Amino acid sequence: MRDLLPPEVAVAVAGPDDWRGELLPEEGACLGERAVESRRRDFTAGRVCARRALARLGVPAVAVPSAPNRAPVWPAGVVGTITHTPGYCAAAVARADEVRSVGMDAERHRELNAGVRRLVGLPEEWDDCARLPGGISWAAVLFSVKETIYKVWHPVVGTWLDFHDARVTLDPESGLFTARIAPARLDAAPVPDPPATVTGRFSVDADLVRSAAVLSPR
Ligand SMILES: CC(C)(COP(=O)(O)OP(=O)(O)OC[C@H]1O[C@@H](n2cnc3c(N)ncnc32)[C@H](O)[C@@H]1OP(=O)(O)O)[C@@H](O)C(=O)NCCC(=O)NCCS
Repeated sequence: MRDLLPPEVAVAVAGPDDWRGELLPEEGACLGERAVESRRRDFTAGRVCARRALARLGVPAVAVPSAPNRAPVWPAGVVGTITHTPGYCAAAVARADEVRSVGMDAERHRELNAGVRRLVGLPEEWDDCARLPGGISWAAVLFSVKETIYKVWHPVVGTWLDFHDARVTLDPESGLFTARIAPARLDAAPVPDPPATVTGRFSVDADLVRSAAVLSPR
């Protein structure tokens, strides 16, 4: 994810041992004793990466518990994000006075079935995708970008955002995406100055789709 985020964001990507790393007690309590093995591995890799990214930022590597809504709880003055998909996990953090919010998402590069496509994309987004170069699952890219948008939006606004509440444009040449948020969600936002537009980067290789975005401070 280092390639998709600006230099003021510290990033850590999991290595092979990180999936079997150590959780701090407060983190283990959030995971719970009944978590299945795959969930335990994902959660653990995310926390190991989170603490490594915090250390790179020069912040003491404290526990990163989960809020009741599942969002990670970062130390005061820090914003951050975690993603995991089979075989890949990363965390990114930044100082809140330099970055208002950061989000990222990784997905396996695969086709999505028609039902999921309808859920994820607006008809006009599928029209756009039909004109993009072949050989790439643009549905997987759109899905990843929209999850990134939610991870950027939710920590600062605190409200739900449906997949159809963001109109995304993908530029395969630059690897940039732009999303306009639905006016109704902006009007209903309980914070001043909710982000009307989210811009970020995406990348696609044979196995993996990645996307990331930051919001600048107000
Ligand atoms: C929150 C959500 C985006 C996470 O997606 P996911 O498929 O679980 O993908 P990832 O593995 O990449 O991310 C999981 C991590 O996201 C983080 N996360 C969960 N809820 C979050 C929230 N509300 N805000 C920010 N980050 C959140 C957590 O760190 C979680 O990992 P952890 O439980 O191990 O700590 C997804 O579950 C969701 O609710 N999506 C529906 C909303 C949406 O995407 N709308 C589209 C708007 S355009």
